[in-house]
This record gives sequence, C-alpha cells and structure tokens, in this order.
Amino acid sequence: MHTDTELTRLTAQLEALIRQTGEFIRREFEHFSFSKVNYKDINDPVSYVDVSAENMLMEGCNKLLPGSGFINEEGGEIRSENGFTWIIDPLDGTTNFTHGVPHFSISVALSEGDEVKLGYVYHVMLDEMYMAARGAGAFLNGRPIRASGLEKLKTSLVVTGFPYHRKAWLDLHLRILGDLVDRSQGVRRLGSAALDLAYVACGRLEGYFEFGLSPWDLAAGALLVQEAGGTVSDFEGGDNYLFGKQILATNGHIHVELLELIQKRILPGQ
Ligand code: IPD
Ligand code: CA
Ligand code: CA
Repeated sequence: MHTDTELTRLTAQLEALIRQTGEFIRREFEHFSFSKVNYKDINDPVSYVDVSAENMLMEGCNKLLPGSGFINEEGGEIRSENGFTWIIDPLDGTTNFTHGVPHFSISVALSEGDEVKLGYVYHVMLDEMYMAARGAGAFLNGRPIRASGLEKLKTSLVVTGFPYHRKAWLDLHLRILGDLVDRSQGVRRLGSAALDLAYVACGRLEGYFEFGLSPWDLAAGALLVQEAGGTVSDFEGGDNYLFGKQILATNGHIHVELLELIQKRILPGQ
C-alpha cells in the first residue's frame, strides 16, 4: 500500500468483504441449531459458521493483498511474504451466537511488520461497522468516534470477559472483580472482546480488561481504542498486550486508577 488511493480502494473492498461475511453469519443465526456446535477445548465452542466465515474472509483478504500472512483463530498461522499480516477472528462471541444472543462480531486487522495499521470490528446484528486506521482516527459507520470523557472510576462502566481457559486466572480475576464492583459504576460481561473494545472506543464504556486473550480477539479493537483517544496497555502499563495474554483498555482518564486496582491484586499475597 503506497498511496492514499490504494488505501482507499483497499478499505472499500475490505469493508464490502466484511459486510458480505456478516450477511452470511446473520442468515445462519436465524436458523442455527445448538446441535451443530463442536468443542475445540473445554468451554471453547466452534461451528461450521466460524469456519466458513473465516474461509470467506481469508480468500477475500488474500485477493486484496496477495502474499500476505495470516493469524487466524480457526486456521492458524501463515507466514507473510509481503510484510503484511491479516489478524482475523471470523466470529467473536461464538458462545452468544450458539445460544441465540444477538451480540457477536467479525474482527479483522491488518499489520505491517509489527504494527497494526488497520482495524475493523463489525457488530453483525446491529450493522455497526467500527473502523480505525493508524494516524487517521476511528469511525463508526463512517462517523468519527471518541472515547468517553468520564474521569473517575466511581462513575465508570467497565466490561470484562472470563477466558475460556479459566483455571489459570479465575481466582485472581474474581478478586479484581470484587474490588471493581465496589469502586465503579458497574461491571458488564457482554461476550465479545472485539465489541468490548469497540464500545470503549465509541464512549459507551469507560474500561475493559481481560486475561488470556489471543491476538485475533483484540488486534482491531485495540487500534480502535487508541485512535479514539483511549489508552491500551498490559497489566504492567507496558505495550505487550497483543501476544501477552493481558489487556487493559480505557478512555485514558481512568487508566491509572484501573491499572492500580488490577496491580494491587496481582502482587503476591493480595
Ligand atoms: C471469546 C470472546 C469473549 C472472551 C473470550 C474469547 P470467541 O472469543 O471474545 O468475550 O471473553 O475470552 O475467547 O471464542 O467467541 O471468538
Ligand atoms: Ca474471539
Ligand atoms: Ca472466534
């Protein structure tokens, strides 16, 4: 991608591909039967919808930038030959999908080298297309979005998720939640990490944290938060969140307060 024109063409085609994949997911949602669910692991469901949606996205992305690499939830990794890598979660919120809860998304990010340059999160049932391009801002259905201006944790609405591989983090997570319920306006668990991040980016929620996520859950959403003026870090305040299995994303104002609350419980003996 060398010129603005090439970028504009790429984003238009990518958005069309995501919408088309969203249409497929929406159609399947109308008549989906729980008997079609398989388990990759305990608590980790997958269906033919996840796999088919990923194939559609992969095929389309490959045509857009031939020779690109992939980091995909269902299909694993393909090494990049041109410096670009797609990071794709074809259906984020599979548990909601399989239970008929209409809150799930498609998450597609494009990185060049180590830097995520483009991110799309599509709320399939609300037809909300969240998009961010590094250095160019974040948008919801084409309109600029900003993270919220609330300054105190006490009035903030915070979201989290419980990782599928819970054992490693559950006790710690519950101790953090106990503090947070006490010190915030409220805590939510909505079921799609990509949408949790998109909601922080558009100011519906002030903060989000989760243990144990993978790059495809958060690559696009983290860019959305950053481009909307928010802050993203790991639990040490550093930037190892994409592969580091811990992410904190906020509107920026409450970042230190929430980080300290988490860190207090991570310290040995807390
Ligand atoms: C899951 C969702 C959920 C989060 C889990 C993820 P999936 O992704 O993002 O909100 O709490 O940790 O694995 O499996 O539905 O794509
Ligand atoms: Ca996911
Ligand atoms: Ca998924």
